[in-house]
Amino acid sequence: MKTTVKAKGLQKYYQLGKVQVEALKQVDMEILEGELVSIIGPSGSGKTSLLNIIGLIDTPSGGNLYFEDQKMVFSDFNDMAPIRNEKIGYIFQNFNLIPVLNVYENIEIPFLIRKNISKKEKHERIETVIEQVGLSKYKNHKPDQLSGGQRQRIAIARAIVHHPKLILADEPTANLDSHTSQTIMELLMKLNADMKTTIIFSTHDPLVMSYAKKILKIKDGVLTEDE
Ligand SMILES: Nc1ncnc2c1ncn2[C@@H]1O[C@H](COP(=O)(O)OP(=O)(O)O)[C@@H](O)[C@H]1O
Ligand SMILES: [Mg+2]
Repeated sequence: MKTTVKAKGLQKYYQLGKVQVEALKQVDMEILEGELVSIIGPSGSGKTSLLNIIGLIDTPSGGNLYFEDQKMVFSDFNDMAPIRNEKIGYIFQNFNLIPVLNVYENIEIPFLIRKNISKKEKHERIETVIEQVGLSKYKNHKPDQLSGGQRQRIAIARAIVHHPKLILADEPTANLDSHTSQTIMELLMKLNADMKTTIIFSTHDPLVMSYAKKILKIKDGVLTEDE
């Protein structure tokens, strides 16, 4: 089995005035290709800090991160950009959609930085994911014309349209009711099964965490595997 992500002694500190917050303490983890993993822990335990480093959108204070066995050099943005842009899809807790753009245009965003794709292929890929997440009827709607569950579907479509190897989802159902949460989790499970996409999601909801095949617990920045 190939390794998608490996962390070795990962640390994250935040400086708040004179106080240093230790958000991640020597985190070790290894996630294999195709795994569906949940990181669970209470608010403030370090979930977002960890996902942001794995997603290459924040830098660690210490330790190492490997993506497909390649060591990430956080001081070199050029080194990491292709991996971040092409191999990772990120679903944020608050969806992070652009309100003035419609569904189609929001999903098109990842292609703004990827020029090596034809117009036709881009269009086909967008149409395919819109159908996959069940939003075909809403292509021209703006996010504020849609429900929370539909907005999260846009965010998922945007995260998968470039066929990433890894999807990171930070509390993807935190703002959704339990029925909608279930539908969203089933969509993520299907992606994992159909495309062999590695998925790491964080949650503190027991219902949501039951979808994972592997559970990692985090508390006060310390990560442990649930046996
Ligand atoms: N930008 C920041 N500046 C200072 N402290 C932060 C920052 N982001 C997170 N923290 C602190 O780091 C710890 C972990 O936060 P976070 O990773 O957001 O946890 P979670 O996602 O599990 O709620 C918390 O104590 C939080 O207050
Ligand atoms: Mg968080």
